[in-house]
Amino acid sequence: MLPVDWLRPFEGLWAAERRLAPSTTWRIGGPAELWLEPTSPEQLAALVAEFWRRGIHWRILGGGSNLLVPDSGVRGAVVSLRRMQRIDIDGDRLVAEAGAPLHHVVHRAQQAGLSGVECLAGIPGHVGGAVFGNAGGRYGDIGSRVERIDVVGARGEREEILLPAGSGFFAYRASLIGDRIVVRARLRLSTGEPAAIRGETLRIIRERRSSQPGWVGNAGCVFKNPPGHSAGRLIDLSRLKGTRVGGIFVSPIHANFFENAGGGKAEDVARLVDVVQQRVQREHGVDLEMEVRRWA
Ligand code: EPU
Repeated sequence: MLPVDWLRPFEGLWAAERRLAPSTTWRIGGPAELWLEPTSPEQLAALVAEFWRRGIHWRILGGGSNLLVPDSGVRGAVVSLRRMQRIDIDGDRLVAEAGAPLHHVVHRAQQAGLSGVECLAGIPGHVGGAVFGNAGGRYGDIGSRVERIDVVGARGEREEILLPAGSGFFAYRASLIGDRIVVRARLRLSTGEPAAIRGETLRIIRERRSSQPGWVGNAGCVFKNPPGHSAGRLIDLSRLKGTRVGGIFVSPIHANFFENAGGGKAEDVARLVDVVQQRVQREHGVDLEMEVRRWA
């Protein structure tokens, strides 16, 4: 057990041995040895500095939508961003804390008559993870709009990353954030007609709903699209839709989603990942790389 007496200032904001399954969209995962919910980037930075001094291993949990947590849970601290959801509009800039859900960002921009994040409509997840993994889809990604990121480093030090357009900081489902924590991002948007922004947002949501399963019980796309291919299409062509291991099966709606039938385990996901990778490699000669992050 961790020495938790130093956590008194976090009264009501921490718990020991808290189950992680309810905090992931797959609804999978054992307990975190220590669970913490800082309420601001400043508090988060202080916490990370404390972890550094005490040699405590920590991880960040954002929306839990692109994450596989082991059935046995994880040792050390898990820092939830769910109390860091502030969004501010400043002219044509939108500033969001890392725990803000993407659908709140899309909605606030739309209300303010700002265009540029419609492409994020219907994507589960929060700002921090979206910036880290450059979330997006066919109509664009978040990276193209990010002009400043406030991060916290491994010793709790704060840093501001300024990103002029075309800085090369983002690539397909990737960024140069590394092991720093995104605590806040400022997005450069453009003014538009609210009705038009709303129309485009609804169109993208409808399109996504017709070709993908809902938000709960899966983790979004499991694999990255290999260059020049669609992972979903390759898995589908390999006749794997519906293939099941334990409580987890390849979605019949979109083959790059694995759904939890209820009671699915992280181990089932890992085995199904192997089955799919091997079959796609055998039939198409393509290696599928996971997009979902796995905690060890
Ligand atoms: N396809 C199939 N069978 C399937 C799934 C897809 O034949 O089971 C075909 C489709 O018919 C289409 C092609 O494959 O011709 C591409 O499919 P889709 O338009 O659904 O796009 P995708 O490449 O599979 C990407 C992102 C999604 C994002 C969508 C829509 C990746 C790994 N996936 O999917 O992002 O929502 O475009 O913009 O980049 C995610 O990253 O978690 C995610 C869901």
